[in-house]
Amino acid sequence: MIALPAHAVEEGSRDRFGRPLHDLRISVTDRCNFRCTYCMPKELFGANYRFMPRGELLSFEEIARLAGIFVSHGVRKIRLTGGEPLLRQGLEDLVGMLSALEGLEDLTLTTNGSLLTPMRARRLHAAGLDRLTVSLDAVDDTVFASMNDVGFPVEPVLRSIEEAGRAGLNPIKINMVVKRGVNDHEIVPMAERFRGSEHIVRFIEYMDVGNANGWRMDDVVSAREIVERVGRSYPLKAMEPNYRGEVARRWRYADGAGEIGVIASVTQPFCGACTRARLSAEGKLYTCLFANAGFDMRELVRSGASDEALSAAIGSVWGRRDDRYSEVRSGNTPSRPRIEMSYIGG
Ligand code: GTP
Ligand code: 5AD
Ligand code: SF4
Ligand code: SF4
Repeated sequence: MIALPAHAVEEGSRDRFGRPLHDLRISVTDRCNFRCTYCMPKELFGANYRFMPRGELLSFEEIARLAGIFVSHGVRKIRLTGGEPLLRQGLEDLVGMLSALEGLEDLTLTTNGSLLTPMRARRLHAAGLDRLTVSLDAVDDTVFASMNDVGFPVEPVLRSIEEAGRAGLNPIKINMVVKRGVNDHEIVPMAERFRGSEHIVRFIEYMDVGNANGWRMDDVVSAREIVERVGRSYPLKAMEPNYRGEVARRWRYADGAGEIGVIASVTQPFCGACTRARLSAEGKLYTCLFANAGFDMRELVRSGASDEALSAAIGSVWGRRDDRYSEVRSGNTPSRPRIEMSYIGG
């Protein structure tokens, strides 16, 4: 176990609206082997796209050091993301380093599941990964392959989900971004496929994140409509959240076949309880998914800053935070440049 630094604060840091810093989402690469049309459209992320060179990425040691300082500010949950995080070589080593942080309660990872072999799942679990979230936008092979836009078949991903469950990475959450006219006819089949399993499907409203996806409100299927559509086939009952600020609203099947979640980031924003900070693969700290600028932690780290100086920087960035993009979305000009989801992770 790594001891908390001496400057650890009991209460944790608060932003301008009194929101604590509780979750840290760490992107370990901006690369992905998929080209989901709503995230990394091929026209923009083609052969000429400049991904981050290796030397620009934070090393595992740098990430673990920063993570330890975030824990001292109150972070209790860390999610590893990408791009596709399993593209980062030796990710198990980073998981091992993070799981040794004293005070961290939940270590998880979001993946597209395409590179998750049974061996990799076992290794990640053995290194200390608690659970897993898999992005899966359809169970129909043709719809899935056209959404990931690299023709990747759905079967290997479905197998990965089962293997990850066997490896102990439970509960597994399955995230489906719903886009009207593209995969909304897959809502009920998706619910059907995982009903009665241990896994929890979460339907996500398609968001206007980044600049690349050409988002329009007409493409959004609201959480309310999603619940209605699933409920018509399988009656649902509302459930209490697992914890304050939980992003997904929970619904259980009236017949006891498990639960689903809906994430209504567009129609019912949840900024008021947003406790998430995001660290990009190159070490920029963002306090909102819709931010257009981040604070350069890598520059500080590589210039030899002490733990105290890094801690002060994090405290000051979080203390200045007044983001609530989803709540004020309508007042924003669509042309305002923003970071991409593939850069900062879900
Ligand atoms: P659990 O810890 O399993 O409850 O998951 P989570 O709450 O961390 O959610 P997850 O990381 O699986 O996020 C699912 C989706 O919710 C993301 O892909 C985003 O679409 C959306 N989402 C998550 N966090 C935020 C956020 O801070 N702001 C907005 N606007 N959307 C978010
Ligand atoms: N809206 C909602 N969720 C998105 N994701 C990526 N782009 C969007 C978007 N525009 C989600 C993916 C995955 C995670 C990495 O981010 O589904 O679960
Ligand atoms: Fe698709 Fe996730 Fe890759 Fe984006 S990062 S292209 S959502 S698999
Ligand atoms: Fe948090 Fe920004 Fe998302 Fe609101 S829009 S919930 S502040 S990340």
